[in-house]
Amino acid sequence: MVRAYEPTPIPRESLDRIVGTVRRAPSAGFSQGQRLVVVTEPDRRRAFADAVAEEQYVDQGFAPWISGAQALVVVCTREEDYHERYRQPDKLDEGEEIEWPVPYWHADAGAAGMLILLAAIDEGLAAGVFGIPADRMERVRELLGLPDDVAIVEVITLGAGAEDAASDKLSSRGTRPRRPLEELVRWERF
Ligand SMILES: Cc1cc2nc3c(=O)[nH]c(=O)nc-3n(C[C@H](O)[C@H](O)[C@H](O)COP(=O)(O)O)c2cc1C
Repeated sequence: MVRAYEPTPIPRESLDRIVGTVRRAPSAGFSQGQRLVVVTEPDRRRAFADAVAEEQYVDQGFAPWISGAQALVVVCTREEDYHERYRQPDKLDEGEEIEWPVPYWHADAGAAGMLILLAAIDEGLAAGVFGIPADRMERVRELLGLPDDVAIVEVITLGAGAEDAASDKLSSRGTRPRRPLEELVRWERF
């Protein structure tokens, strides 16, 4: 995660390639429930940063990285795409929509987000991720003009990376140890 950006614009072709990866993202039943909103205009980025209270980050010692990022990619999901898909004949379970073991619409949004992060690196850019606090969600939804059936999962910041010493010291990765591999990966049985 990079939380400081140079004011260098991202070429439109780069952005097109980055967000175009959403068409190749995996999705349960190929439901393709992911939706992206790409915010690039400076006034909109500023308004977005205000809506999520960027000053809280700045007060903590970070650069103004939400408004400073040249593009914000809001990763969203349309849950209803999954219900519609899993009510089709080839997906029915004894005539009914399956009991969802986990919300795959969130899993798939995460996968799309990871593709965006990787594509950004391929374009020579830096990227970050942040979530919208629950009490800010309605403001951000209004700002983006989101329809009721589309939910925000996470936001990705993109831009040419600047010096970001603050993240190494102040961010979650800077303030707590990386868990040992053996805790995270078990072989054959948990
Ligand atoms: C769903 C999600 C939400 C996140 N929200 C925030 C956030 O609100 N603010 C922030 O500074 N970082 C946020 N992060 C970034 C994590 O803090 C970061 O990925 C983690 O500390 C590991 O750092 P690294 O990816 O640089 O190794 C978020 C990451 C994810 C995946």
